[in-house]
Amino acid sequence: MSTIKAEKTAKSLEIPFIREMSEITQHMWRNGWDERNGGNVSYLLDEAEVEKYFDPDNVVRVIEPAFPVNELAGRYFIVTGSGKYFKNVLQDPAGNLGLLRVSKDGSKLELLWGMENKAKPTSELASHFMSHTERLKADPDHRVVIHNHATNVLAMTFIHDLEEAKFTKTLWEMCTECIVVFPEGIGIIPWMVPGSNEIGRATAEKMKEYRSVIWPQHGIFGTGTSIDEAFGLIETIEKAAQIYMLIAHHEIKRRITERELSDLAAAFGVTPRPGILSV
Ligand code: 13P
Ligand code: ZN
Repeated sequence: MSTIKAEKTAKSLEIPFIREMSEITQHMWRNGWDERNGGNVSYLLDEAEVEKYFDPDNVVRVIEPAFPVNELAGRYFIVTGSGKYFKNVLQDPAGNLGLLRVSKDGSKLELLWGMENKAKPTSELASHFMSHTERLKADPDHRVVIHNHATNVLAMTFIHDLEEAKFTKTLWEMCTECIVVFPEGIGIIPWMVPGSNEIGRATAEKMKEYRSVIWPQHGIFGTGTSIDEAFGLIETIEKAAQIYMLIAHHEIKRRITERELSDLAAAFGVTPRPGILSV
């Protein structure tokens, strides 16, 4: 890397939201969840936080989204670029990430920083933006959508019934804390072609009720009020799926019972999604 480029990268990484995006993508890649360009992240930012570091009038490029984004007009997002490798974000944030603002009329995306060399936002932008819209309705503190190819979640979708209640119950049974972390359960959509507005709509529909949605034989979407929350949710689901994959072919001698799950929920003050436990 040239000295100028290294200095530019070091400066970008002093900006908290660029550092967070660069570190979490690196982390996910190290977990093996983001092979090649797999996965994408979008983070809704506070206007005041963005304006501490960037001139809001300095639009470097205008991008046409493939779907209307009226509900997010004027909002700022930092997003990963399409075809970009999570492995590389930390060493070149400006080439792999972009800071976008949805135009006032919701018809365009205004690039304020990054996405150098004509890079484009992630091909899953429809799923991200439509999910942000639904999660914000459910929780005004919502901020982050993460998609990745979490290995064991993906593997589990080949061998487990994909009915949401059954899938959720199995995950709750795998680790004691699961029911506390995702008492509302997990949404699952049918297999669909990625990168389309249709998969975006199907994912967002599930986001009305769930903070995480599984794409069978592909990966997972996790959301939250911060990078930590969205990542922590995926991490917990992936851990449960890993336990499932480790024990699936063994004789099970002991389970967490429905009564124990119910006691856990009561002890931690969460309400499990109705219709999953029978006690
Ligand atoms: P992008 O590189 O366009 O973000 O796509 C990666 C991916 O995981 C598609 O589902
Ligand atoms: Zn993907």
